[in-house]
Amino acid sequence: MNNTRLVLIGLLIPAILMIPYSIFSFYTDFANKNPDPALVTVDFNGITFNAIEGKKTFEQYQCMGCHTIVGNGAYFGPDLTNAYERAGKSDAALSGLMLVGLPSKGMPPMKDRGMDPEDAARTAAFLKYANMLDTNGWPNSGSWERNGSIDGIQEKRLYPSEIWQVILGIIFFNVIIFGVILAYERRKQEGRL
Ligand code: HEC
Repeated sequence: MNNTRLVLIGLLIPAILMIPYSIFSFYTDFANKNPDPALVTVDFNGITFNAIEGKKTFEQYQCMGCHTIVGNGAYFGPDLTNAYERAGKSDAALSGLMLVGLPSKGMPPMKDRGMDPEDAARTAAFLKYANMLDTNGWPNSGSWERNGSIDGIQEKRLYPSEIWQVILGIIFFNVIIFGVILAYERRKQEGRL
């Protein structure tokens, strides 16, 4: 083996090692896929409403004027990303809360702003969807109190039980590279190249 070939192989190995790493990064990316909003639904009076319709009513009644979704919006009311969870994952409870509001605390009764139970169900479907978004653990387990504490944020990370996938990938590609180099060397020795 001459020096040029050694250098080339030295470059080839890290280059090919990138393959399992790339696959792994895609794997974790795909694992974070969010649900299809058309399939996240709320039933009310025999009608099925989905989160796409819900986003429209959410905009129509200007919830963002006071609230945030994943931190975007206004900061008068609490973030609504996990509001569905705080409502006990109950479509009816969440719709009811919107319609009657919490007037003493600044949440206006939406029925006074023209919201009917159908629109409330639509909006609930959107909030149900928001609750299913993969936000990497943000805001945290349901508390929106602005007391500055970050209780129980769970970051997504590489768990030890998943490391075998990386190791197997590296071994697999190393064996392939090694095989190719050996075959090449053998043919070279036999004078066939
Ligand atoms: C005028 C401002 C304002 C608007 C507009 C508004 N809200 Fe609120 N909302 C608030 C405030 C303030 C609270 C907090 C009440 C409290 O302190 O408990 C709240 C509370 C809530 C809660 C319960 C708290 C939680 O997150 O668990 C939900 C759910 C909610 N709002 C949904 C909505 C939806 C949906 C809309 C649009 C249809 C909307 N709000 C429009 C001000 C508003």
